[in-house]
Amino acid sequence: MRVADLIEKKRNGGELSRKEINYLIAGYTAGTVPDYQLAAFAMAVYFRGMSARETLALTLAMANSGDMVSLSGIPGTVVDKHSTGGVGDSTTLVLAPLVASAGVPVAKMSGRGLGHTGGTLDKLEAIPGFQGGLSVDEMIRSLQRTGVAVVGQTERLVPADRKLYALRDLTATVESLPLIAASIMSKKLAAGADALVLDVKTGDGAFMKEPAAAFTLAEAMVEIGCGAGRETVAVLTSMEQPLGRAVGNALEIEEAIATLKGRGPADLTELCLLLGGWMLFLAGRVSQPEEGRSILQERITGGAAADKFKEMIREQRGDPAVVDHPDLLPQAAATVPVEAAEKGYVHRLRAEPVGRAAMILGAGREAAGAAIDFAAGVTLQKKVGDPVEPGETLAMLHLNCSPESGEAMEAGRLLRGAYEIGSSPVKKPPLILGHVDRAGRHHI
Ligand code: URA
Repeated sequence: MRVADLIEKKRNGGELSRKEINYLIAGYTAGTVPDYQLAAFAMAVYFRGMSARETLALTLAMANSGDMVSLSGIPGTVVDKHSTGGVGDSTTLVLAPLVASAGVPVAKMSGRGLGHTGGTLDKLEAIPGFQGGLSVDEMIRSLQRTGVAVVGQTERLVPADRKLYALRDLTATVESLPLIAASIMSKKLAAGADALVLDVKTGDGAFMKEPAAAFTLAEAMVEIGCGAGRETVAVLTSMEQPLGRAVGNALEIEEAIATLKGRGPADLTELCLLLGGWMLFLAGRVSQPEEGRSILQERITGGAAADKFKEMIREQRGDPAVVDHPDLLPQAAATVPVEAAEKGYVHRLRAEPVGRAAMILGAGREAAGAAIDFAAGVTLQKKVGDPVEPGETLAMLHLNCSPESGEAMEAGRLLRGAYEIGSSPVKKPPLILGHVDRAGRHHI
């Protein structure tokens, strides 16, 4: 087999076999196929796309490029949840303990934040002492003891994706649907869960700006998951405005705790109950997702969900006292209000600049590996549909830098620009757009 022939075949719109794709990915991982050939291949895929068969073969080849975690020792159906990334998205922080409190094991490998979106691992590490960097054996022991583990992806998982993603980033080939689907799903398959609920976000703060593209990505990922023998459902949700009211690591932990105790923002609570209902359904715990939702609601009201979060934190060496005393979380030195200039209604609150404002204050990182400030971020007092009066607080900056610093000024400017105030009342926009299961698309 010659790599140049495989590139040519894809360039001309042909379909590669599983053997050919395995050859390319195994060679690339081992370093015998150079970057320039994989870059040419990625560009050919960008223009020609891939069939469902090719996308599944690529995903499996990538998943098999490193360790494949086996969770066969954990009784029951282990579920995982993945979000394609958003602003203020603290659903995993709520869902992992919530679903585990209903007796369904949850194993999740999470990433760190980059750019305007945050990462679950950074958020959890805002809890004093919390260790996200567990080995696979430690993760399995945590799962056996508490039914839940949220850990960082180990170095030995999916090395092909790490290499290929960095290459795509430098060769303008990130925005290719089969490459995105294979990248996400290879990590999920290697992480070992039996079933998977995907939260595919669309809108200003999301990877997929348009719902139609998000539905197509969701279909591709569900097809891969089911094709690989893992029951998979994708829920399509709006990321036009940030989810919940908190954007920032410790701030989102505090919001997740409130949600686990039944006092969270309505949109975050709604999304967690919906995704959690699907997780219970895929685990075979209930016969309808709606039934799962009522079980989870009861776990929140009865206190089991918050207790499970304490257990999960203690197991991962964090201080569980934060659940009853959120003031033990890192606190910013100052808060600065961003005020409305005019009377009206919030017509729009763009997620991307809100995420950028939080990042500039130190809550996120522009480059991989940079340090972050756990206490920094933004809280949103007003969201789409809310009435505002001149001088009323729209949002609050939480900062450790000086309120007169360039960073604070820039964050304030971004936040003011994120809000669009109009004179007429507007309805709250829908959060849930539909779902995709093995039977196909279901729009709401
Ligand atoms: N997230 C991933 O993990 N991979 C992609 O290609 C895009 C988003």
